[in-house]
Amino acid sequence: MDAGSLSFEQLQSVHDDLSGVFTLHQELMVCGEVALADEILDLFASLLEVHMNQEENHLFPLIIRLLKMAPDRAVPLIGEHERMMLLVRIFQVKMKDLLKLSASEQRRGIIDLLDQQSEFKHLFVSHDESEHELLLPGLNMITNVDERIQIISDLIRDWQRSVQRALPRLRDAQEFLTEHDRERTVN
Ligand SMILES: [Fe+2]
Ligand SMILES: [Fe+2]
Repeated sequence: MDAGSLSFEQLQSVHDDLSGVFTLHQELMVCGEVALADEILDLFASLLEVHMNQEENHLFPLIIRLLKMAPDRAVPLIGEHERMMLLVRIFQVKMKDLLKLSASEQRRGIIDLLDQQSEFKHLFVSHDESEHELLLPGLNMITNVDERIQIISDLIRDWQRSVQRALPRLRDAQEFLTEHDRERTVN
């Protein structure tokens, strides 16, 4: 890692990873693959939890320092974490309920759930913007290079380990969608 160009914004790729997994879950729902969509939502929930725990344990403690040195960048983010996690838990319960329904009931349930998930997506995007525009640049201002190397490399390493564990199932789901598309093109 090049210490000179090291910045907390490098953690932003985690949000892209998360967003990709959530989109995969929704694409599977649109294809009517409720069981697989349910499985990918569970993976998403555990990855989101890992990411939020990382931020709460390693970045948010720095907010006290940020409040003293750059108070305009110390945005309140824990409440948003709680709201996002609560919504995801509700989606997980609804997905388990969908599995018990008939095909036509599932289709209507999927429409409702996609609707409800739009609030979560808005919150995810605005939270991402707050972290990207305020928190992460603020953390660059109040930390020295050694601190940044330590925190960022630890967080990226732990995140990649979590993604690696989820990767086989994510690849299977992605391949399923590719096959689904191929069949539609042929027919
Ligand atoms: Fe966050
Ligand atoms: Fe984040």
